[in-house]
Amino acid sequence: MTPRNDKQDERARLSAAYRRFAADEARGRSPLYEELARGVAADSEILDFLLALPRPKRQPNLLFAAARSLLGTPDGWNRFRRGVTQRKDALHALMLMRSTQTNEPGRCAALLPVLARLPQPLALLEVGASAGLCLLPDRYGYDYGEGRLMSARRDVEPPIFPCAVNAATPIPEALPSIAWRAGLDLEPVDIADRNQVAWLETLVWPEQTDRLTRLRAALDIAATDKPRLVEGDLRRDLTRLANEMPRDATRVIFHTAVLTYVGPTERAEFARSVTSFCDVWIANEAPQVFPDIAARAGTPGPRGQFLLAANGQPLAWADPHGASLDWIA
Ligand SMILES: C[S@@+](CC[C@H](N)C(=O)[O-])C[C@H]1O[C@@H](n2cnc3c(N)ncnc32)[C@H](O)[C@@H]1O
Repeated sequence: MTPRNDKQDERARLSAAYRRFAADEARGRSPLYEELARGVAADSEILDFLLALPRPKRQPNLLFAAARSLLGTPDGWNRFRRGVTQRKDALHALMLMRSTQTNEPGRCAALLPVLARLPQPLALLEVGASAGLCLLPDRYGYDYGEGRLMSARRDVEPPIFPCAVNAATPIPEALPSIAWRAGLDLEPVDIADRNQVAWLETLVWPEQTDRLTRLRAALDIAATDKPRLVEGDLRRDLTRLANEMPRDATRVIFHTAVLTYVGPTERAEFARSVTSFCDVWIANEAPQVFPDIAARAGTPGPRGQFLLAANGQPLAWADPHGASLDWIA
């Protein structure tokens, strides 16, 4: 294989990844990102711009958020393309500096039916916690259609996360009681830093203004509650933090949209060892992250959905941002 062919293959793979993002992730959620992703997939100059970046920095969410942060939100493909081609160097530098640390507290709506059924109180350890917003499931409100739950503490107005559920979903009757909580992250997001908060906000997709409002409400709560965040790598530093979890609580280790950031061998190693540090391991990830768990779900599941699992058993298909939950009966 010549280097030229290698580059063409790499470009074709990247183009396919952007087409997949448009079809599976953006469609029905962000018309602008769907249009931009389709545009990138068909544009060799922008694909070459991306190929000059390290592989983990080529993803759509990073490109679109960095471009919006630098150039403002475009009104469509033409303006986006013009901006990117005119500011290549600055955009390249920004994409190297930033990473996709989207913190989506709405994912608590998917976790809650599992958390609420466990013996209380809980010790919660989140792996890949970003700003720690998913560590505060007891501080938010939830609207499951048939059932609504609301945090008793009203000193800061809680966001209410809507979550459409199927009939099999065990809608929680009470919020969990949390005795201990902490998060581990490669680069914890400091919400006292205005630039870091602005980046978190830019990571919310452009049309999703309700999501942005709820993110800001969750940030207000985190500013008061200050969940503990520890800098560390899930491949090396989990044991130390896990050993701090109190034994008189149900020890839960969970992660959402994180294990995709490490390779398949490291994921398998994580899955093998994690249950020795806790009573319950909750994974909320794309199904390809743990193919063995996905195989146990029986069917491939709806396109673009996450698979929610506890101790390796599939429980539900979940919207990646927590907007719906289809319990596997
Ligand atoms: C997409 S964000 C998800 C954040 C949060 N779990 C949520 O669902 O809102 C992924 C997070 O995982 C963190 N991360 C990636 N690789 C990691 C690693 N090896 N160890 C610890 N954290 C990691 C990133 O820094 C980032 O904050």
